[in-house]
Amino acid sequence: MSDVMPGTSPLTDLLRPAQRDGYAVAALSARYRACVRPALEAALELRSPVIVEISQRELGWFGLSPRDFRDALEAAVRDLDFRYPLALHLDHSWEPAVIHAAIDAGFSSVMIDASAQPFEENVRQTRDIVTYAHARGVSVEAELGKLTTTDQLETEGDEALYTVPEEALEFVERTGCDALAVSIGTAHGVYPVKDPKIDFERLEAIRALLPEVPLVLHGGSGLPAATVHRAIALPGGGVSKMNVATDLENALLAAMGGLPRMTSAELDALEPGVRALGLAAVKAEAKDKIEHFVRSAGRAGT
Ligand code: 13P
Repeated sequence: MSDVMPGTSPLTDLLRPAQRDGYAVAALSARYRACVRPALEAALELRSPVIVEISQRELGWFGLSPRDFRDALEAAVRDLDFRYPLALHLDHSWEPAVIHAAIDAGFSSVMIDASAQPFEENVRQTRDIVTYAHARGVSVEAELGKLTTTDQLETEGDEALYTVPEEALEFVERTGCDALAVSIGTAHGVYPVKDPKIDFERLEAIRALLPEVPLVLHGGSGLPAATVHRAIALPGGGVSKMNVATDLENALLAAMGGLPRMTSAELDALEPGVRALGLAAVKAEAKDKIEHFVRSAGRAGT
């Protein structure tokens, strides 16, 4: 049976109320072990549900195992006595071994990203992970359509990468995934333009065909607040999970005097006064996203 980290829940427990009540939940990619705590402090101070996540690639970049990341979250939950809705989520991952390791380490939710594969193969890989995860009480986010990085983003010609609404319906029916990441024009990283073009009509068409499934917006860094509000406020409930990574790390590094990316252990070894400046900036950035972008402040109940 499931051995998820105590105090964490599957995504759906957080996303269904958000979809119903017209807000989204921030999925904060802490990246570094030390950044888990300020992310949680932000949610605590704003009485907000929150998702704390890390991807397969980030585990490699920052020198962490899923167990290291879970331990960091568990310590922060204990120290802060955090009792609001919380998910421990594995972001973009494509290797079953990594996904299984995260589930074994107590993650309450995982993402299988087989979106680089042809449709049938994406269905097959996603369905396998859904079977494994659901047997253990763990939710699954999947992706259809390709999300790029902002340095690959064009304003013309990207639509071939976007999620096709009819395919989304078939994909969700055949895989049984709990949440779907859609490609509608957002990208990972910092946008080269101030106001990236988002295909809201496509998002509406997906929602109309799939009235139930929570939708996920990736590439939350650098999006204008008004764009996020519009994506949340669609008829029938728009996106209910927004991922944020780059803005948190950039806030951290800028506040420490513009240091380059480092491993999680290197951050832990920095002079405490310097690190504290960075962590305060992560908390401020997380609070800004929770309060002014996804607008989930006060939604955690009493
Ligand atoms: P950003 O780095 O653009 O915030 O994207 C985060 C993301 O979507 C992680 O899956």
